[in-house]
Amino acid sequence: MDVLVGYATAHGSTRGVAERLAVGLGRAGLKADVRPLEAVDDADAYGAFVLGSAVHNQTWLAPARKFVRENLDLLASRPVWIYSVGMPGALRGPWKRLGPMQAPVIVRSLPAGLSYRSHELFSGVIRASQLPLGGRIRFRLLGGRYGDFRDWAAIDGWAAGIAAELLRA
Ligand SMILES: Cc1cc2nc3c(=O)[nH]c(=O)nc-3n(C[C@H](O)[C@H](O)[C@H](O)COP(=O)(O)O)c2cc1C
Repeated sequence: MDVLVGYATAHGSTRGVAERLAVGLGRAGLKADVRPLEAVDDADAYGAFVLGSAVHNQTWLAPARKFVRENLDLLASRPVWIYSVGMPGALRGPWKRLGPMQAPVIVRSLPAGLSYRSHELFSGVIRASQLPLGGRIRFRLLGGRYGDFRDWAAIDGWAAGIAAELLRA
């Protein structure tokens, strides 16, 4: 079965997550195709979908929301997993709990009617140069640290779980 690992990115770290998910699916024997969601021309060709986006202001980037909106009927007929790449790992101290609290907010901002098996919020990469001045100030007030917080073991584990479910079916 061909699996689409689709992503939307602003600065590239979500592409890295998508590529790693695809490697995990491939290792389990599935054929995974990694693509930016704005460049998927035949969604119907895939038997399952792993769709994700970088998170900006607690929602997915526009190309990812557009892909979901335009393919709602198709997605309803196939297994779908969704992932978000934000910065929970960059927060410290009392603010750390804010990271995971975002997950339901992100999901609520997606087009209504999307059904999926599970949603995973991963940490990505955050650099000062990516934020406007106001954002940098807010980030520091939240105890934020800049860096690459991608947890490859967690990403591999999630991919292995998806592969196991698909191969069982
Ligand atoms: C303008 C902007 C807004 C962001 N807003 C959020 C947010 O609301 N929640 C979050 O967890 N991360 C937020 N982030 C962090 C990004 O989601 C994180 O850096 C992610 O790795 C970006 O993925 P990308 O490199 O694929 O673009 C924001 C980053 C930027 C630049």
